Amino acid sequence: MKTRRALVTGGAGFLGSHLCDGLLGEGYRVVAADNLLTGSLGNIEHLRNDSRFEFVQKDVCYPGEWGTLDLDYVLHFASPASPVDYAEHGIETLRVGSYGTFEALETARRCGAKFMMASTSECYGDPAVHPQTETYWGNVNPIGPRSVYDEAKRFSEAVTMAYHRYHQVDTRIVRIFNTYGPRMQINDGRVIPNFMWQALRGENLTVYGDGSQTRSFCYVSDEVDGILRLAGSAEHEPVNIGNPTEFTILDCARKVIASTGSRSQIKFEGLPQDDPKQRRPDISKAKRLLGWEPKVELESGLKLSLEYFRRAVAEKEKRT
Ligand SMILES: NC(=O)c1ccc[n+]([C@@H]2O[C@H](COP(=O)([O-])OP(=O)(O)OC[C@H]3O[C@@H](n4cnc5c(N)ncnc54)[C@H](O)[C@@H]3O)[C@@H](O)[C@H]2O)c1
Repeated sequence: MKTRRALVTGGAGFLGSHLCDGLLGEGYRVVAADNLLTGSLGNIEHLRNDSRFEFVQKDVCYPGEWGTLDLDYVLHFASPASPVDYAEHGIETLRVGSYGTFEALETARRCGAKFMMASTSECYGDPAVHPQTETYWGNVNPIGPRSVYDEAKRFSEAVTMAYHRYHQVDTRIVRIFNTYGPRMQINDGRVIPNFMWQALRGENLTVYGDGSQTRSFCYVSDEVDGILRLAGSAEHEPVNIGNPTEFTILDCARKVIASTGSRSQIKFEGLPQDDPKQRRPDISKAKRLLGWEPKVELESGLKLSLEYFRRAVAEKEKRT
């Protein structure tokens, strides 16, 4: 039987690289395309000598030389994703969510490949419905500082549905909720790497507001398992994949301090603009359709990530 081939845009990023591992595990040949804006070759270093894996350094907003490739799946994961990254690269974020999504969908259409788009819980904005079900349309400020990301992703979903409706592309949309684990950039504005960075350096952990805002955190192996199950399903409408166990930010800070054995304390600072007060996926649809639910609890996920974060902190300290 012919080996299936998948293209992963953003394949040198945190999630994209784990997805490449997962697809190789499922027997795919994998091409990862990435311009290394926020990703790194270190994330795919372990695949360098794997003959089933190929890396192409390129901006996916421009047409690819994929013409000769016989692709079975296109998984569009390229996009700055952390608040620090999309604040710094606002225009690039809007471009990859618009031009990049068009290009990825055109590639899928040309090859007759299936398509998956990495969407986000940010589509729900500061939600008025809790927990968030896929049928909730969201509460997004279209001109606020986060809009470069939120609206890029909402547009990306719209283009994906349009290619499905008008061009019959076999599409999927995964709404990913906060995911963490090895290969995340350290200190990138996301809660867990930030707390890890501070705790492992013995600095006080910064909690914005009074810390009562809630988040849920999904360990990367659970997230990739959900993504692969959705990829194998026939569902075209968005599906939430995330961990529904909710923690206050303050709880989370305490758990990071405990897991690292740090002596750090907690300090409080003002809330950033448009910071959502709560975020928690309703995963009934994923459970029903995919038989999926997360298995790794926060304490275990923090333990599994600790070694990586220790190394990342040491490397970053050496560089600065
Ligand atoms: N990690 C999460 O918690 C989370 C939550 C919701 C959604 N997502 C989505 O998952 C995807 C991956 O996120 P991540 O956390 O791995 O972020 P990441 O920054 O680690 O990975 C994104 C990758 O995309 C690449 N990229 C960006 N613009 C590009 C372009 N124009 N051409 C080629 N490559 C480009 C970057 O270099 C990077 O390697 C993103 O689409 C993100 O929106 C992630």
